[in-house]
Amino acid sequence: MEAQHFVALLGSLRKASYHGTLARSLQSLAPEGVSIELLGPIQEIPHYDADVQAEGFPDSVVRMGQSIKQADAVIIVTPEYNYSVPGALKNALDWISRLPETPFAGKPVAIQSGSPGMIGGARAQYHLRQILVFLDAMVLNKPEIMISQIPAKVDQELGRITDETTKKLIASQLTALSRTVGMHRA
Ligand code: FNR
Repeated sequence: MEAQHFVALLGSLRKASYHGTLARSLQSLAPEGVSIELLGPIQEIPHYDADVQAEGFPDSVVRMGQSIKQADAVIIVTPEYNYSVPGALKNALDWISRLPETPFAGKPVAIQSGSPGMIGGARAQYHLRQILVFLDAMVLNKPEIMISQIPAKVDQELGRITDETTKKLIASQLTALSRTVGMHRA
């Protein structure tokens, strides 16, 4: 297989984030030939303002857009806030959507979320899918990664995923994403 490069976009800002641990674990679960780089952090991106855009895109937005544009695929790893995506992630996507080179257009994207509750961030994922329609991304349908009771499966202090089933599921999603990239290139 030709080498593939994925980038990961993290929706949580906090240091001890479960999703941060997930995002940093992706490389160890990736199929051979796939490298995964964590983008960001999204707190570097200012609030979207069309007047700021008119003066020129912030460097943080340009850099993130270039990294997405150059990547073979994007993995969005995010918590659910109030049944939707965190505002900081939406803000980053809003900025990126205004870039002239439309970095997400035709880009394979996989989504991962978790929650201390039982639904694993599913509602946020469906909002995110809706947003990604306007960005013209190609969102992978399955397998879905919606990790319920995440504190029992991800240890942010040790910085690793402790649940084997979760690891296998993530590895299978990364393989599916890699296969999609391969089909896309063909
Ligand atoms: C949450 N949380 C949450 N969980 C959930 O399953 N559905 C929800 O709608 C919400 N809403 C929500 C709103 C806000 C403002 C906060 C701060 C939290 C809980 C959330 O899933 C939990 O804090 C996760 O641990 C956040 O992920 P990180 O930061 O650990 O990656």
